[in-house]
Amino acid sequence: VFAGVPEAPPDPILGLNSAFLADETPGKISLGVGAFRTDEGKPYVLPVVKRVEQQLAADPATNHEYLPIDGLPAFQKLSAELILGKDCTAMNEGRVVTSQALSGTGALRVGITFLARFLRTSGSPPAVYIPTPTWSNHRNIVPDAGLGDARTYRYLDATSGGVDITSMLADLSDAPKGSVIVLHGCAHNPTGADPSPAQWKEILTVVRERGLLPFFDNAYQGFASGDLDADAASVRLFADAGIDMVLSQSFAKNMGLYGQRIGALSVVLAAGTPDVAVAAKAVRSQLKAVVRPMYSSPPAHGARIAVGVLGDSANYAEWKKELAGMAGRIGDMRTALKAALDANGTPGDWSRIVNQIGMFSYTGLSAQQVAYLRTKHHIYMTSNGRISMAGLTTSTVQQVADAMKDAVEN
Ligand code: LMR
Repeated sequence: VFAGVPEAPPDPILGLNSAFLADETPGKISLGVGAFRTDEGKPYVLPVVKRVEQQLAADPATNHEYLPIDGLPAFQKLSAELILGKDCTAMNEGRVVTSQALSGTGALRVGITFLARFLRTSGSPPAVYIPTPTWSNHRNIVPDAGLGDARTYRYLDATSGGVDITSMLADLSDAPKGSVIVLHGCAHNPTGADPSPAQWKEILTVVRERGLLPFFDNAYQGFASGDLDADAASVRLFADAGIDMVLSQSFAKNMGLYGQRIGALSVVLAAGTPDVAVAAKAVRSQLKAVVRPMYSSPPAHGARIAVGVLGDSANYAEWKKELAGMAGRIGDMRTALKAALDANGTPGDWSRIVNQIGMFSYTGLSAQQVAYLRTKHHIYMTSNGRISMAGLTTSTVQQVADAMKDAVEN
């Protein structure tokens, strides 16, 4: 019966990683998947995470019982506080409903499914808008949640490499009332270009005027500026406006917990929502109703690590330092790659590499140049020309710059 199943195309990011792993060429370089590497090119377990894991292993109270459907309550609270701030009015007023989720993807999937069930615009499920370009998995999640293909709003100014705010605002203004607008809270993936604080205010104005529902994807808190609070500014601006909104969070990057699949989904109810306690309870029950038939309940280990880091002031302080260290290494790689491209005379203006923020650089290399880099130099990056800057090391940056020169000139 399965003989006619057609093969699905490989995932543009994780499929690329599999191709990289299968490549036996010595000296191959992966700049594809967004995963932090040390300057030796090795995966990084944050020392604070390692210590919390050792404490968990030594604790006789640690067991492997099921977590509740919506996850560990302590994790829910700490995670929401991390993005919304400890003095958040919406949290104090009981307007934030947080569920543990299978990292950012899981949070998006549960959140969009919830919206597909309960958000109605003139009786129909909402349209979901994603930026162009965006993280490739956004395009998969929306139809899989039953909402059909995502619509798009313009985001990038290809010439400057910055945000095309005029086109973005125009497209948001044209979105039907009640549409869901997916926004990257900071460190936009793949462009590394974020709206300025003033531009976020303009976006908020259009969102309010048009009655849109913002869905903030926060996968890189701490990676844009190296500062957790600064990177939450866009989300807090919207939360302070007292509007309905949805937030996804991931601890894959900022705690290096990629494979633990730990993240959170928060539904923020607008200020003035009638019978807010009843509404919040109902929302939580419906989030659980999405999760239970999908994967029953989330895994425990990552949530316990996150609680150990977020809930202990000494561990939290140490985490902040380690996070700033990761962001700093990425910054160093930006400077080094730009300098090497300038020094070897690679045609083009590479200043966007140092102007962009977060984990990625959107180089402007064409799909053809990316393919050339892979076949000739065994350097892997996504076909849209995105480089994961953390994949570079002090000892490979020259090799990458020289290969980029070759690709640009051929
Ligand atoms: C990426 O963009 O490379 C990461 O978010 C990993 C992923 O799941 O795609």
